[in-house]
Amino acid sequence: MSSSPWIAITVIENLPLKEGRTLHWKGLDIALFNLGTRVVAVENKCPHMDGPLVDGIVSTFEGRITVTCPLHTRRICLESGQTLKPATDGPCVRTFPAKIVDGLVLLQENTTLDVI
Ligand code: FES
Repeated sequence: MSSSPWIAITVIENLPLKEGRTLHWKGLDIALFNLGTRVVAVENKCPHMDGPLVDGIVSTFEGRITVTCPLHTRRICLESGQTLKPATDGPCVRTFPAKIVDGLVLLQENTTLDVI
């Protein structure tokens, strides 16, 4: 079984540390965040009222890296997509495999992105 290919999106220098940048890809808005030693990619849509997570503040909450939604300050875990504050069992933000290789930001072209 072969794994999905990794697609180069940009160079890491285009992602300022702990700031979000939006990528429009395959019908989705994806928020990319440079966490210093790694990158994370989540759908740019808060599960509350679709707030733009890319404009949120990245910080640590209860030992997890989060983004705070700029609309109503929900805190979203950037690794699991789970809303941590307020704690909820509600819907998670979609997350996508991402990594840095030789200065390039890569996303895995998996089937979950094929939504259009
Ligand atoms: S839209 Fe994100 S907290 Fe309301």
